[in-house]
Amino acid sequence: MDLLPTPSHSTAYAADETFTLAPGTTLEAGPGTEGTARWLRAAVGAATGLPLPSGDRSADGVVRLAVDETVPGGPEAYRITVDPASGVRITGAGPAGVFWGAQTFRQMLGPDAFRRAPLREQAWQVPSGHLSDAPRFGWRGFMLDVARHFMPKDGVLRYLDLMAAHKLNVLHLHLTDDQGWRLEIRRYPELTAKGAWRERTKVGLRESTLWDERPHGGYYTQDDIREIVAYAAERHITVVPEIDIPGHSQAAIAAYPDLGNSDVVDTAALPVLPSWGVNPNVLAPTDEVLRFYENVFTEVLDLFPGKFVHVGGDECPKEQWRESPTAQTRIKELDLEDEDELQSWIIRHFDRWLADRGRRLIGWDEILEGGLAPGAAVSSWRGFAGGIAAAQSGHDVVMCPESHVYLDWRQSDSPDEPVPIAHVRTLEDVYRFEPVPAELTGEEARRVIGTQANLWTEVLDSARVVDYMAFPRLAAFAEVAWSELPAPAERDWAGFEARMTTHYARLDALGVEYRRPQGPLPWQRRPGVVGRPKEGPPPIV
Ligand code: ACM
Repeated sequence: MDLLPTPSHSTAYAADETFTLAPGTTLEAGPGTEGTARWLRAAVGAATGLPLPSGDRSADGVVRLAVDETVPGGPEAYRITVDPASGVRITGAGPAGVFWGAQTFRQMLGPDAFRRAPLREQAWQVPSGHLSDAPRFGWRGFMLDVARHFMPKDGVLRYLDLMAAHKLNVLHLHLTDDQGWRLEIRRYPELTAKGAWRERTKVGLRESTLWDERPHGGYYTQDDIREIVAYAAERHITVVPEIDIPGHSQAAIAAYPDLGNSDVVDTAALPVLPSWGVNPNVLAPTDEVLRFYENVFTEVLDLFPGKFVHVGGDECPKEQWRESPTAQTRIKELDLEDEDELQSWIIRHFDRWLADRGRRLIGWDEILEGGLAPGAAVSSWRGFAGGIAAAQSGHDVVMCPESHVYLDWRQSDSPDEPVPIAHVRTLEDVYRFEPVPAELTGEEARRVIGTQANLWTEVLDSARVVDYMAFPRLAAFAEVAWSELPAPAERDWAGFEARMTTHYARLDALGVEYRRPQGPLPWQRRPGVVGRPKEGPPPIV
């Protein structure tokens, strides 16, 4: 059946006995499984042309969905039993488990079950037997940077479907950056009226001199976000919003110049940034700026019901604070050691502010510098060190080291790769990624609440290119996040590659423009787009 991610527990199937779905096969949805029943009718029903009417008995067999808390392995665990005569039973420890079981069931039906309409007459068969499965990690994340290049709402909904098909359950939306603000905030309309649009865009990185002279922009209205969050929730996916502070904030400063360090730069002259890189124009550490962002986060909390709110915290150069009389006065008033502590003070402020409202702060590992806010969780991106330090000091960690799971890094060293960013990270490299460092003790290792693959979009200007960079590596990542795999060196890479041949057929049926094993197809090459691979040996940590 080539299931992917591979089930964590037992599977036992009889090769020669199958249950065949037929037009009369009914769907019985127990309490708590109604959402999965809707999904099955919409997805599997559409692909197979089978209506799957409600009913608890049928001569054509029944697909039964049920929640049973005694299924071991946590709320996302599930079991599937297939009997040749009576049908299929998908039992989850909770509603999420039933949903992940339904995803597995679709894979059991074959790649054509991933189409949007039936391709041809065929028998929809699943092998009889028993399967029991549960995820390794509770946070199986994918970060999409919609700030550098905007992805319209329909594209995000499509990615939620692709995530669901891979049992990924956290969509981290990087909503704000120097190059664009993508979330409607009713109190501050200029954030999107001005901050969501840039005049032009650098094409490529570093020494590239190419520009796309077309304006670029877009943003999600609050209704768009409600739709995205509801669509995600129906798929048992949590959307984690990121509002990046105090660095990566030039789009906000372009909209509201008082947010910047106007005592050292003419912030009124700053545009939404058209180029890339770490940028010195950061937020001013004033009370007014804190109040502004409290108001922004108030609207964010209304829209995003999940526990975690990401406040960024990465790559905040301190030059302007060193020069700014306002920032220096603040440091003295607060009796702080230096500018790093000033950043910490801002992050701690929002940690308390979020905790007072029943939420938890998560930030990039720079939030460790100058002292980590109590209760804060860390996205460990600069390798594993930040995550290790955080876990050892009792903080929760999401492991997403750039060296392994930054999916904007190029997939081979062929000059045909669309844009040669950073180092080569192959499908096999991602498959051999181990999120829990060996140096953590058992107790510390439990602080690694999950793992995440991040896709930055400086050079990814369309959903097609996003597909190319995300897939197939996101499939390998999904297995790392879900399945109980052996140590990296012992992983069955050949077996994974063999399963991928079936999975490529699923991705084809889903319309994903993934990178083929032999490299980019002619229309996936992007000649003339310049970037420079990083020099030196790849930093495998
Ligand atoms: C990051 O890559 N700046 C989090």
